Amino acid sequence: MSVEKASPYNVDEVRDDFPVLNRTVDGEKLVYLDNAATSQKPQSVIDAVSEFYEEYNANVHRGLHTLSQEASEAYENAHDRVAEFIGADGRENVVFTSNTTEGVNAVAFGWGMHHVDEGDNIVLTQMEHHSSLVPWQQVAQANDAELRFLKVDEGVVEEGEVEEKIDEDTAAVSVVHMSNVFGTVTPVKDIIDRAHEHGARVLVDGAQSVPHMPVDVGEMNADFFVTSGHKMCGPTGSGVLYGKTEAFHETQPYQYGGEMIKLVEYEEATWTDLPWRFEAGTPNIAQGIGLAAAVDYLEDLGMEKIHEHEREVTRHALEMMEDDDEVTVYGPSSDHENRGGVISFNVSDAHAHDTSELLSDEGVATRSGHHCAQPLMREMGVPATTRASFYLYNTYEEAEALVEGIETVKEVFA
Ligand SMILES: Cc1ncc(COP(=O)(O)O)c(C=O)c1O
Repeated sequence: MSVEKASPYNVDEVRDDFPVLNRTVDGEKLVYLDNAATSQKPQSVIDAVSEFYEEYNANVHRGLHTLSQEASEAYENAHDRVAEFIGADGRENVVFTSNTTEGVNAVAFGWGMHHVDEGDNIVLTQMEHHSSLVPWQQVAQANDAELRFLKVDEGVVEEGEVEEKIDEDTAAVSVVHMSNVFGTVTPVKDIIDRAHEHGARVLVDGAQSVPHMPVDVGEMNADFFVTSGHKMCGPTGSGVLYGKTEAFHETQPYQYGGEMIKLVEYEEATWTDLPWRFEAGTPNIAQGIGLAAAVDYLEDLGMEKIHEHEREVTRHALEMMEDDDEVTVYGPSSDHENRGGVISFNVSDAHAHDTSELLSDEGVATRSGHHCAQPLMREMGVPATTRASFYLYNTYEEAEALVEGIETVKEVFA
């Protein structure tokens, strides 16, 4: 089955940068296809984190001693590096969080609670991750607002939905950029333009887009944008909340305490400058520095090239799976122009958990379950799917290993 296919970069060399990819699982070569959950880390990121602990570990912003100054400089520069990477104007527009979930909560509780009024509506898609759905439910419940959902068909927002659902009563729109279930990329610009015509603010959940394709939040004109550093080669505990300056000025801090204040009296306090007013307490310093190293790594490789490589490897797997009557693939076909590196599927009558377990026995790491999208699974009429998600280091041979693993599942359930 093996094919000779080109990649825009040398994948074998890239794989050598990721120590964990050399390991075996119960004697089988590891085929890591759970990248939508979290990515593996290159040596340069591991080194950047180790170097921080080995050479200049100190708290940031407050010390006058050398280590604290070095740590502060590296941590602050990391904000600049990320700002440049996502097309933000500057470091004041980039808050480091632990993950996407924290970023959405910051917007929902810091902005949504104060700007969504009774009778307003909040527009989401039917395919939001729980982390971009549940915080908005809280806002809607607390403020007597309505939640509206843009209908999706196979991961694509249906025609006319945006015009129908976003109206003069829309206060906030929160949309996923790339679906973690279908792998589809939503053309968010049209949604943002429509929302802005009605004076609504827009949050884009870029947890699955920034790691895999070039993203420019300025060009997109999003008011808020969130992503997870740990899904883009960065350390766990790293994430990003972007906000336009005027949107951040409308946002209340969502955590209060040290490091985020300017002046404190016994009865009240004022907030320090952006972005630090949104980073209360000691931040994830090593993680932020590691994230900047991840950005360096991704940019060296080239985001266009990464996107192209993943699309082709995914297409290779999809073409084989689409030819198989016993495999149901959810989402558009392999030739869909906006399809990224995620494949949700089920195999004959096998439960998704059994499929994932049998694949694991073959060394193929996938994820099974509702993928933090329970309402969507209900819409799809399935309790769960198995999900294979590809990244910059996955090979055509690994796409074939997935398909071979599926053959084993079919044999077991025949
Ligand atoms: C689309 C999407 N949004 C949000 C999240 C939540 O990310 P995190 O767990 O890093 O907060 C995920 C995680 O899988 C995701 O895929």
